[in-house]
Amino acid sequence: MVSLQLDGRTVVVTGAGQGQGAAEARFLVEAGARVIATDLAADVPAGLTALPSASVSAGAGLVYRQLDVTDASGWSRLAGWIKAQGWAVDGLVNNAGITQRSRLLDASVADLQRVYEVNVAGSLLGIQALAPLMGGGSSIVNVGSVAGVTAHYPVAYTASKWALRGLSQVAAMELGPRGIRVNTVHPGFIDTPMTAGARPEFRVATLAETPLGRTGSVEEVAGVVLFLLSPLSSFVTGAEIPVDGGQAGHGGAMSVSDAMR
Ligand SMILES: NC(=O)c1ccc[n+]([C@@H]2O[C@H](COP(=O)([O-])OP(=O)(O)OC[C@H]3O[C@@H](n4cnc5c(N)ncnc54)[C@H](O)[C@@H]3O)[C@@H](O)[C@H]2O)c1
Repeated sequence: MVSLQLDGRTVVVTGAGQGQGAAEARFLVEAGARVIATDLAADVPAGLTALPSASVSAGAGLVYRQLDVTDASGWSRLAGWIKAQGWAVDGLVNNAGITQRSRLLDASVADLQRVYEVNVAGSLLGIQALAPLMGGGSSIVNVGSVAGVTAHYPVAYTASKWALRGLSQVAAMELGPRGIRVNTVHPGFIDTPMTAGARPEFRVATLAETPLGRTGSVEEVAGVVLFLLSPLSSFVTGAEIPVDGGQAGHGGAMSVSDAMR
């Protein structure tokens, strides 16, 4: 039977407190998974409180754990806690990310390091901590960005997302023989608290480069993430899927096309 159901599967989502991560956690719970939602806050973030809680007996639902993805010992504690529950890990969504909008000639090494620490090292640490708890049929999804496939103006963020692609491809190669798939989604302009802080000019210019002519929703990213975690994508690994309304696909030719109308 064709199904996106993830009954009996345990999935860890980072940065699940708001935005895309919260939508991914919600979709996964609705698909029957036990979701270990993690974020920086000590208490369950408001966006997650309405979801049913998971228990050992009733698998589907959400458990919240505080985790800073840059903290290796935090990842070890999370892995130890999952093992102590008697659970395996079937999925990991490396969604936590930060942006940094310095331009090329202004960006400092510290800017670069901070963004790398969260967007790249955070994902590496997650894979290192949880891959040992994963068996065949597990799936890891890394959240890249359209910035990671183009020359996006915020240089530290852009470089970090290009680096994340390299990490993903190595992980797909190294974990494939164990039956663990690793894929990347590249969101375009998605309406979240992260993009709420962008200047209006950024929104207008991005929409002009987006063939679908609108921003994306968190649910539109979560749907693709759900597919990549499900057995429906069982022969897909090392893939990169843009969820960007066509922004990256035209390679910058949209303004030419528009000029020729
Ligand atoms: N919104 C967009 O347009 C867009 C576009 C492309 C890619 N992305 C990527 O999608 C992912 C989610 O972005 P979003 O728009 O939902 O952002 P958001 O800022 O709304 O949410 C990000 C979440 O990550 C958490 N986080 C930040 N640093 C963390 C850390 N060190 N440890 C744990 N959690 C941490 C935050 O607390 C927050 O809950 C990010 O990787 C982002 O780079 C977003």
